[in-house]
Amino acid sequence: MKGVVTMSLFTVDRSKCKKDGICAAVCPLRIISMGEDGLPFMPDGASCINCGHCVSVCPQGAATLKTMNPADLVMVQDKLLPGPEQVAHFLAARRSIRSYKDKPVDRETLERLIGIAGVAPSGHNAQPVHWLMVEDAGEVRRLSGLVIDWMRQMIKERPEVAGPMGMRALVAAWEMGLDNISRRAPHVVLAHGPKKLGVTRDSCIIALTYLELAAYSMGLGACWAGYLGTAAAVFPPLIEALGIPGEHRVFGAMMLGYPRFKYQRIPRRKEPSVSWR
Ligand SMILES: Cc1cc2nc3c(=O)[nH]c(=O)nc-3n(C[C@H](O)[C@H](O)[C@H](O)COP(=O)(O)O)c2cc1C
Repeated sequence: MKGVVTMSLFTVDRSKCKKDGICAAVCPLRIISMGEDGLPFMPDGASCINCGHCVSVCPQGAATLKTMNPADLVMVQDKLLPGPEQVAHFLAARRSIRSYKDKPVDRETLERLIGIAGVAPSGHNAQPVHWLMVEDAGEVRRLSGLVIDWMRQMIKERPEVAGPMGMRALVAAWEMGLDNISRRAPHVVLAHGPKKLGVTRDSCIIALTYLELAAYSMGLGACWAGYLGTAAAVFPPLIEALGIPGEHRVFGAMMLGYPRFKYQRIPRRKEPSVSWR
């Protein structure tokens, strides 16, 4: 291509580049350098993590990655960004939803939700999160039942763990017809990924946090399914029922559905505990 210096991963358009070095300054791995001609370059074989910062930051749209062309990227639109007041109110008004309408959430909405959660940060931009969306409400109940089986086993074999986790009460409630595991939610979603990768756990948890917030913004309700998430990481019958690949581990789960009730007020929380140095 005329006027373009091509390297393995990173390309710069000479006719647009202002040689300002911004792309090099923001590269997290510092693998973009400024050449003698003043143009940025990335050496062959450099270990780029494809975070796209160089492409996203360039005011001229001069930088391109093999995987990311500036012309294909959505521009940041200031008018769509909420102010700090809206963000603070939105975050404070979000609630864990434990009462759901019987109405299921359609596939398109669930896909949109997962799409939004997919922009969450991940260690080394590894994007290791895989989603398992349980769409069928009957299957959600069956999975809750397997969590109860795990609890029954824990009560017998590890009473010192089962006690503080309130498992006896949860099993007793289940036997009375109450699902305190997934709260009769029409759907649950689980985040899993390669267990050998050090960043998977945190990346899954952050992605689920994004998903919970996105759900609220879309008029949906969500709640961490802590027992399901834990059992799905350690209880073989549940891992098998979910079809989690052997090299993966579940790092969190969340209930999803339409909230039955609208919250009117923001409950009080502790004052932040902060030390300043
Ligand atoms: C890691 C984690 C696990 C949780 N597990 C459950 C759970 O299994 N069942 C449940 O009803 N709520 C669960 N919750 C929701 C908390 O109880 C809830 O966040 C807390 O009471 C504060 O309420 P709020 O989210 O509405 O502010 C969990 C929350 C977190 C962060």
